[in-house]
Amino acid sequence: MSERVESPSAPAGRVRIADVERTFPTKEGPRTVLRDLNLDVTAGEIIAIVGPSGCGKSTLLRLIGGLDSPTGGSITLDGESIRAHDDSTAIAFQEPRLLPWRPIAQNVALGLPRGVRGRQAKERVAELLDLVGLTHAADQRPREVSGGMAQRASLARALARSPRVLLLDEPFGALDALTRLKMQDLLLDIHRSQPTTVILVTHDVEEALYLADRVLMLRNLHAAQATPERPRAKVIALGSSSGIGALGSASTHEPAPQPAAESHRTKGSTARLVTVPGTRPRDRGARTFTDLRTSLLEGLGVHKLSIKENA
Ligand SMILES: Nc1ncnc2c1ncn2[C@@H]1O[C@H](COP(=O)(O)OP(=O)(O)OP(=O)(O)O)[C@@H](O)[C@H]1O
Ligand SMILES: [Mg+2]
Repeated sequence: MSERVESPSAPAGRVRIADVERTFPTKEGPRTVLRDLNLDVTAGEIIAIVGPSGCGKSTLLRLIGGLDSPTGGSITLDGESIRAHDDSTAIAFQEPRLLPWRPIAQNVALGLPRGVRGRQAKERVAELLDLVGLTHAADQRPREVSGGMAQRASLARALARSPRVLLLDEPFGALDALTRLKMQDLLLDIHRSQPTTVILVTHDVEEALYLADRVLMLRNLHAAQATPERPRAKVIALGSSSGIGALGSASTHEPAPQPAAESHRTKGSTARLVTVPGTRPRDRGARTFTDLRTSLLEGLGVHKLSIKENA
């Protein structure tokens, strides 16, 4: 992995999300997708966002990336309001979104900040290709490389601008299981060599726990409105039944879960905010890991994986 990245890596950014609301006008009237959302992301932290489909995960990333604006509350990056998409953040999606007619190296170069040209650009692209293990594929077109390679190119393009915050929307969701595991380790390697702040949306709870310092679970406000009590009761019950209480008490970011108190503030989008114990790389088989995974899955409504305490 490249230790000789000389380009001026911007320092990792601190993101503060305060009382954020996003309401969309629809034919049926205003639809609030995010509400009362608060999160303070420290510089260099990796946050994973999980939650049911439609709960607003991509909406939140768009807000942080300056591609959309909140209808209430504020989002700041290093103390400044995020007004528009600029070089301070970069987004990568589930599909690599590469330009098919350009070779991989040129696709990566598209992510460079304005003003980086000539030799400097060439060197920076070479460093990034090295970082994601694509030096050998620099001249290939996107259709000539595998899905995993295309996704690595997409990551390199996002990193090209040395963002203060890297936003990833289900970046490995379309990859096969083995490639996905490799990509997770690659992301951790990248984070070590360019310790930017990472906010990652994923449907994969295991991935969230493997990669993140903290996991934010969002709830679907509309599903909650349709059936107000059941999902809420489930999340609360799990907080005390599956070991998460013990894990939470080791947290430096949040107080130990207090199920009774939590039931009174469930109107907002946050279903849970969990600090993942242990340092990376994590042992996927560790008891704390599997307990937490089970608990989060239950919170997402996956009931079949019942908690078998000593399985
Ligand atoms: N521009 C828009 N106008 C109206 N509604 C919108 C708009 N953008 C998003 N929504 C709605 O907001 C809700 C949340 O969408 P979002 O894409 O953030 O969900 P998500 O959590 O990323 O879901 P998924 O896991 O399926 O990707 C959806 O109901 C969607 O239809
Ligand atoms: Mg989405």
